[in-house]
Amino acid sequence: MSAVDPELLWNPFDPAFRADPYPFYDRLRTDAPAWPNAIGTVVLTRYDDVARTLRSNDFSRDVDANATPRDDEISRRRRERRANGAAKSILNLDPPDHTRLRRMVTTAFTPTAVQRLRGRMEAMVDAVLDRAADTGSLELIEDLAFPVPFQVISEMLDMPTDRGDELRTWSQALTAALEPTADMATLDAADEAIAQLAPYMWEVIEERRRALGDDVLSRLIAVEEEGDRLSPEELITFVILLYVAGHETTVNLIGNGMLALLRNRDELTRWRDDPSLDDRAVDELLRFDGPVQHTIRVAMVPVTYAGAQGEPVVVEPGGTVLTVLGAANHDPAVFDDPHSLRLDRANSNRHLAFAAGIHYCLGASLAKMEASVAIGRLIRRFPDIELTGEPHWRDRITIRGVDRLQLSVR
Ligand code: HEM
Repeated sequence: MSAVDPELLWNPFDPAFRADPYPFYDRLRTDAPAWPNAIGTVVLTRYDDVARTLRSNDFSRDVDANATPRDDEISRRRRERRANGAAKSILNLDPPDHTRLRRMVTTAFTPTAVQRLRGRMEAMVDAVLDRAADTGSLELIEDLAFPVPFQVISEMLDMPTDRGDELRTWSQALTAALEPTADMATLDAADEAIAQLAPYMWEVIEERRRALGDDVLSRLIAVEEEGDRLSPEELITFVILLYVAGHETTVNLIGNGMLALLRNRDELTRWRDDPSLDDRAVDELLRFDGPVQHTIRVAMVPVTYAGAQGEPVVVEPGGTVLTVLGAANHDPAVFDDPHSLRLDRANSNRHLAFAAGIHYCLGASLAKMEASVAIGRLIRRFPDIELTGEPHWRDRITIRGVDRLQLSVR
């Protein structure tokens, strides 16, 4: 193995790693592609290992039920938080519960269902761009990347939008708890956010019960009222997940994607001039710098990977693996010249930015369309778009993204 200690390569506490993890992923993939880190989780950076793991039935997503418990203070606190939560979300469930819950909402998120929202999305985006045309400036995150997905999911669930600012703060506090660097204060803040968000959601649910409509929330309430398919706790957990899942993620796809284009002007021009790229371009942006960098699985049977110098690394039942989506998406074994942004890349749709297997992102079609409409219309509306000031990155590694991107537009 090379002189570099893998411990130094996947270290979420290292600011340089958080700022730009891709060179670190490359070293790890070459030197120790399956690497048991200091707390015993095996970090996977090869595309094939990540894809195989995500698609395998030999792994569980239910860490509480199946992972060997760790005895440090933060792990105990995380377990306690989850035990106090109302119910597990589909993200953390295995079949058959996962299948039962996911089936209830798939129809609302199919590509065809999402297509029906396109006109509405275009109108929202154009209204933002009209205002930007008047002022000559656009704060991409504040003005476009957050409000559009927020408005779309609010309309799908028919949620009021008057508490947008609070919801944004709550969802940021919730996703901060997903970071490997989360400390006690971060976990407390996430609990505080849930303590405010849940009663608000119950209020909306009780209100909706009196007059069910054709929205996704009403449909879930109707299922819950039938009695045996969805418990009230599952209902609220599900609605909260649907409501906040897109907040940080789609925002970052639009933010990271636009920044990548501004740093690769030829590609920006290529997309602007070629509408046939509208779909493929977004896949490449997801591959190039996706919002979700990694996720976790628990082995249910012994599983063997090739580690440093091909040495076998065995994960025993109850052991965890970290599937590093961002590393898989830059694996040269699958993507030629992986660190270049190439919007016409033939296989960009093989990216794992939405994971794979049964937990493949439910909102994938929705997020892709939102990004395609937002970025596509922005770059076509304004021939001249410049970054003014330095982009500001939110200092996170599980969910990676810029949180300020000030642009001048003409
Ligand atoms: C660019 C935007 C997005 C990205 C990169 C993203 C990424 C992901 C990833 C990686 C997973 C799987 C996690 C795992 O396997 O452990 C996931 C699951 C999920 N996503 Fe997304 N997501 C995005 C947008 C959305 C949106 C807009 C929604 C809904 C409105 C959504 C709803 C969900 C749900 C409900 C799951 C759980 C699915 C399941 O467990 O079966 N996502 N997402």
